[in-house]
Amino acid sequence: MNKIKAGIINVTGYAGVELARILWQHPQVDLVAVTGRSAAGKKLGEVFPHLECTGLTITAELEGKVDVAFSAMTHKASAEAVIPLMKKGIRVVDMSADFRLKDPARYPEWYDFTHPAPELLKTAVYGLPELHRSQIEAANLVANPGCYPSSAILALAPLVKHDLVEADLIVDSKSGISGAGRTLTLPTHFSEASDNVRAYNLSGHRHQPEILQELDNLCPSGSVSVTFVPHTVPMTRGILSTCYARAKSGKLTGGKEELDKIFSDYYRKEPFTRMVQQPPETKHTWGSNLCLLYPTMHEKTGRVIVISCIDNLVKGAAGQAIQNMNIMFGFPETAGLEALPIYP
Ligand SMILES: NC(=O)c1ccc[n+]([C@@H]2O[C@H](COP(=O)([O-])OP(=O)(O)OC[C@H]3O[C@@H](n4cnc5c(N)ncnc54)[C@H](OP(=O)(O)O)[C@@H]3O)[C@@H](O)[C@H]2O)c1
Repeated sequence: MNKIKAGIINVTGYAGVELARILWQHPQVDLVAVTGRSAAGKKLGEVFPHLECTGLTITAELEGKVDVAFSAMTHKASAEAVIPLMKKGIRVVDMSADFRLKDPARYPEWYDFTHPAPELLKTAVYGLPELHRSQIEAANLVANPGCYPSSAILALAPLVKHDLVEADLIVDSKSGISGAGRTLTLPTHFSEASDNVRAYNLSGHRHQPEILQELDNLCPSGSVSVTFVPHTVPMTRGILSTCYARAKSGKLTGGKEELDKIFSDYYRKEPFTRMVQQPPETKHTWGSNLCLLYPTMHEKTGRVIVISCIDNLVKGAAGQAIQNMNIMFGFPETAGLEALPIYP
């Protein structure tokens, strides 16, 4: 099969550079173009020595012809980069939040900008393959999910879809510091972030509307409530989300055994989202595209608890973007993504 040509807009952030690493080894892709604002004109290997083998040069704009472009820009700037690509008929996977929310009014509310192309929000497909695989196949624009939402939605989807739990859901997430990106900020300084755990954005994190949008769509009554509290923990990669829900009266009386069966059936055909027999740890997913799930029942309170682990830069960003590209172009879904997690 002929290879397709791919380009990355903004290879200089953590999401973009992780994409370059995985795409370079993809059997059906030629990575031909990488862009970056501050590093334009430099060799990719000069900025990121681990990618020296690519021989690629970072350019200011996407050069040459590509079949697929990935945008790893920050929000707002990403929409501005994606709109001209769509006009040229290039298929795009956008890793920012700019096409994830269906309602344009959510953008000024959560992201402080007015969406420049609200018509594209109607056709963009939310790129969580476990929920939207058939729409992703035909999509020209895929909105790659956020890292926290990937872990939270996958943890709660079977419970919400089957109407097994009350609508009042709690998502308590811990993320490695790379989730905040490579751009320097005070909370990501070594002396602030190391040996330190902190909760942040308690009054509302930008990933909240995305989690709600997808769970509302799954919920038979059309509406759930989610209390989402993110934390940073002193590690580079990884997200562990602990999700809590109360079983509806008369539901889930079979306890953990029943939960195991519901989750196993729901994700039976999924290549990356797997049930595990012990609570997963972030190190069980590092560098891989896995989402590991452990549902259980807290017998004393009747609360359902689901632990969900991903690598924020792989299933939470670059790996999922490549999974989406594989689906869009009819490649085996696992192509380029077979790497096992790194341990220890
Ligand atoms: N980090 C994650 O775990 C993660 C997970 C899922 C999704 N994402 C999404 O992926 C995108 C990139 O995230 P990241 O973590 O890779 O960010 P990052 O490491 O902070 O990189 C952002 C890069 O964007 C460039 N940039 C910043 N503002 C810009 C602007 N106005 N115009 C053009 N370029 C600009 C900068 O590159 P130059 O210095 O070269 O200009 C910077 O290196 C974001 O939309 C983020 O929400 C990230």
